[in-house]
Amino acid sequence: MNDKLRQKDSRRLFIGISLPDDVRDTLAAWQNQAEKHLNTFRFTKRDNLHLTLYFLGNCTDNELPGITRAMKQAAANHTAFTATVDSIGIFSKKRILWAHVAPDNTLETLHADLANELNRPETRFASHITLVRKAKVEKAPLPPLPKTGFPVRELTLFESSSSPDGVVYTELAKVPLRTNSKA
Ligand code: 2AM
Repeated sequence: MNDKLRQKDSRRLFIGISLPDDVRDTLAAWQNQAEKHLNTFRFTKRDNLHLTLYFLGNCTDNELPGITRAMKQAAANHTAFTATVDSIGIFSKKRILWAHVAPDNTLETLHADLANELNRPETRFASHITLVRKAKVEKAPLPPLPKTGFPVRELTLFESSSSPDGVVYTELAKVPLRTNSKA
C-alpha cells in the first residue's frame, strides 16, 4: 500500500486544485508586499497554497474508494481549463484575505458536480485561495495582485494533518479532467 495511505481511523480530507510554482510565486510575492500593510497576520505557507473545491471533513479509509469514484465521475464532465488568480478579497468577519480565482462559473459547477457525485450537500462556495488569516489591515489599499493564469488539468484529494510546524496538506490522489482531444 502507498505509504501516504497507511491505515488510519480518520482523515481530514478535502478535494481541491493544486497550484503550479509560478502561481505560488505570485501569491507569495503578494504576501511579502502586503506585510507592511498589516498589523497582524498569519500567512498561508507557500507549500500550503491551494483552492478548495469541496471540504469533506473527517472520513474513514472505507470512504476513500467512493470519494475517488465521485472525483472521477465529476472530472469526466469537465474539460481541462485555464484558471486565473486576479484580485484580492476579504472575509472581514473571519479576518481572511484571499485571492479570487476565475472563472467562477466553472469552479462553482465543479463544486456542485462533486457534491452531487459524493451524495453530499452543496455548501457555500467561494472561489478563493486563502492567503492570510488573522489579518488586521493597517494601511489600505492593499497591493494589487498581478493576474496570473494557470492550467487546471486535474482534481486533487488532499489530507490535512497537524504537525509541530503547523498544518500539512498531503496529496493522496489525483484525477485528471478530460482533455480537449476528440480521439
Ligand atoms: P479556507 O482556506 O477557506 O479556510 C483545508 O482545511 C481547506 O478546507 C482549507 O482551504 C479551508 O478553507 C477548507 N475548510 C476547512 N474547514 C472547512 C469547513 N468547515 N467548511 C468548508 N471548508 C473548510
